[in-house]
Amino acid sequence: MASPKRVTGRFERTSVGGEEVAAFIPKPLPPDRPALLLDAALTRRLRAAETALARLELAGEMVPSVDWFIYAFVRKEAVVSSQIEGTQATLVDLLTFEAQGAVETPPNADVEEVCNYLDALTLARKELASPKGLPISMRLLDKVHRRLMRGVRGADRAPGEIRRTQNWIGGTRPGNAAYVPPPPHALGDVLSAFEKYVHADDAMPPLVRAGLLHVQFETIHPYLDGNGRIGRLLVMLLLEHSKLLTKPLLYLSLFLKRHRDEYYRRLTAVREGGDWEGWIAFFLDGVATIADEAVASARELFALVAEDRARVLGQPGTSIVALRLFEVLPRHPVVTVASAMKLVEATKPTVGKAIDLLVRAGVLVETTGKKRDRSYVYDKYLERLRVGTELARAR
Ligand SMILES: Nc1ncnc2c1ncn2[C@@H]1O[C@H](COP(=O)(O)OP(=O)(O)O)[C@@H](O)[C@H]1O
Ligand SMILES: [Mg+2]
Repeated sequence: MASPKRVTGRFERTSVGGEEVAAFIPKPLPPDRPALLLDAALTRRLRAAETALARLELAGEMVPSVDWFIYAFVRKEAVVSSQIEGTQATLVDLLTFEAQGAVETPPNADVEEVCNYLDALTLARKELASPKGLPISMRLLDKVHRRLMRGVRGADRAPGEIRRTQNWIGGTRPGNAAYVPPPPHALGDVLSAFEKYVHADDAMPPLVRAGLLHVQFETIHPYLDGNGRIGRLLVMLLLEHSKLLTKPLLYLSLFLKRHRDEYYRRLTAVREGGDWEGWIAFFLDGVATIADEAVASARELFALVAEDRARVLGQPGTSIVALRLFEVLPRHPVVTVASAMKLVEATKPTVGKAIDLLVRAGVLVETTGKKRDRSYVYDKYLERLRVGTELARAR
């Protein structure tokens, strides 16, 4: 390894599971000795990322139905952020579950994890939006973590609690771990320094600050599990808090999934080589790339809906109910007869006819091949929306 650019923390020998390991205790943010260098190249990247975010913000303001995109993009983020560390649920699994309703089929553990992520994000945004709510703080993150870890998989992983034991990342045991985070006794100090930096009044551009805080959070690894997801959710909250993007439209996790090895390598390089600049360059590229993709995707989806609306209107025998059903599809791209009956408040025969019409118009496709309990999918819409959310790792 080349000599480090700067020292980002210290090691402390500690014993875990009968083995001696060196746990890392990070120095407080911001990077110092030397201070983070925003040279011409990084500044260019920063401007590109900010401009792309501003375009996404504007796209959100111009589209009359921004709630479609919030609905869809937040789900995309939730699915992909969960997939990064192994959740085996796709966007289609999530939307199918949401269409069928929890009463008919309880979610499997993977879909439940994604639903928890959505609830956790909603909870956090509500707290931040309410005058009486919590600010971005460890108290808030604990609360969000508790929500994220609810149910089958999280229950034994101390939901909502800062860990009291030593953990490690990568490897089968502490001795061969890729990384050993701070020992529990050090967490109080590093977390209060972390929290202080969230609200620090220095000249650091907010987007850079969000990047720094994400790494610091992963380095601290304050929970027994869910650190990756909470750390990525934190980025969304910081962007909204700093008004860089006032709606959760940026599914940055897709970039981190696409470049997962580099993502992990760069986290390590900050710790071992003090390479904050390398991480920030990667992070800013991610923001710019995904913001551009989200704008393009929103445009494409919007154009598709406009085109299909014309087809539904032109379809012989078209009805008000068919049109009403069509209008809810962007928020419910998977429907069943039962879910459609609720959405458009119509009887089964009427809804059946509307679905048939949308199938004839080439909008809905029946995907189960079954005679009963059929699901209908707005196929062309989902086809575009789900890019990158498949399980095979995108390369
Ligand atoms: N070498 C590393 N150094 C620091 N953090 C890492 C490293 N490798 C992975 N991570 C982070 O740890 C996360 C996984 O931690 P975990 O608590 O299991 O989170 P989750 O359950 O949400 O996936 C990864 O998503 C990544 O953000
Ligand atoms: Mg995990």
